[in-house]
Amino acid sequence: MMKSGVTDVEGLVREEVPVPDPGPGEVRVRVRAVSINYRDQLVLRGWFGRLEGRDLVPLSDVAGEIDAVGEGVEGWSVGDRVTNLHFKEWEDAPPTTGNVDLGLGALDDDGVLAEYVVLSAERVTRAPGNLDFAEAATLPVAGVTAWHAVAVDHPVVVGQKVMTIGSGGVSLFVLQLSRAMGAEVFAVVRRDDKGERLKEMGVGAFVNSTDNPTWGEAVFEASGGGVQKVVDTVGPGTLNQSIGALGAGGEVAFVGLFEMEGDPVDVMALMGKTASLRGIAVGSHRMHRDLVEAVERYDIHPVIGDRFAFADAKEAFRAQVSPGVFGKVVVELS
Ligand SMILES: NC(=O)c1ccc[n+]([C@@H]2O[C@H](COP(=O)([O-])OP(=O)(O)OC[C@H]3O[C@@H](n4cnc5c(N)ncnc54)[C@H](OP(=O)(O)O)[C@@H]3O)[C@@H](O)[C@H]2O)c1
Repeated sequence: MMKSGVTDVEGLVREEVPVPDPGPGEVRVRVRAVSINYRDQLVLRGWFGRLEGRDLVPLSDVAGEIDAVGEGVEGWSVGDRVTNLHFKEWEDAPPTTGNVDLGLGALDDDGVLAEYVVLSAERVTRAPGNLDFAEAATLPVAGVTAWHAVAVDHPVVVGQKVMTIGSGGVSLFVLQLSRAMGAEVFAVVRRDDKGERLKEMGVGAFVNSTDNPTWGEAVFEASGGGVQKVVDTVGPGTLNQSIGALGAGGEVAFVGLFEMEGDPVDVMALMGKTASLRGIAVGSHRMHRDLVEAVERYDIHPVIGDRFAFADAKEAFRAQVSPGVFGKVVVELS
């Protein structure tokens, strides 16, 4: 629990509360795993998603089993394995004003770092049959964001080239999905050891941005004339390098919230390449369901860098922002 005013992981507290009962149209999920996103760090720090005077249960992504079903719920039974859907009401593309909210664990919506959570029956969907609970808990934000970036509106096709940045949850999903879709992947990393690990996962070549500040150009050259898709998981600070890596007609799918300061967007480079820039906000319920099918079809297993017990949730928050992180950080409950 994040008490009102708490902005540091040390301030998180564990509280005993009665097990909640589902009301009409709701289901109760026995939580088996939750995953942490960078966004949860921002909520904890108070950068967004906090209401004055409101205590908040953190985290937005959960996987578990339905263990009670409220009145009038159809289609769900006790024992069903589910994950949550991130946005309350964004069913299908395109979004409308008002249906892209902040998800669970923000503002007035308590999150999922708990033993049991009650959710609207419309807010859950089946977990992929090939994943364990920890793996399934990585889908609602990181997985769906990656799917939105590579498979929706400007989808990656066989033989295309894709560029990722770093080895975080979103980038590793982009890598796995792009490879499954038949693309070649180039990575930009800040440490060679991570680049080598990415090569073991199917990256064709990597560029170290610490050694090479004009890494966009380096990727353009290494890829033989630019990539068709960059998923920029860093922010405005890397956007112009990302545009530099693009080939003609390519797209930057813009996701990142790490570096919010940057130069003005190089619109002339965008025009010269007839390229596009697309903002990504996680994704719709439809995108999540399509991702579940893709994960099963390609037998994709999300990369989990660290697993923690519920009692060690504070450690999990720390691990998620540690320099060694490679993939998702998950808290598991028995
Ligand atoms: N728009 C959306 O809907 C949406 C959805 C999900 C995530 N996001 C945002 O997308 C970003 C990635 O999310 P995630 O869940 O994948 O995060 P994550 O797992 O925490 O990602 C960590 C990775 O990002 C790299 N990184 C961090 N800061 C960097 C920088 N300044 N320059 C280059 N690389 C950097 C790290 O590189 P090192 O290994 O070198 O440390 C690490 O590999 C976050 O900013 C997150 O808030 C946005």
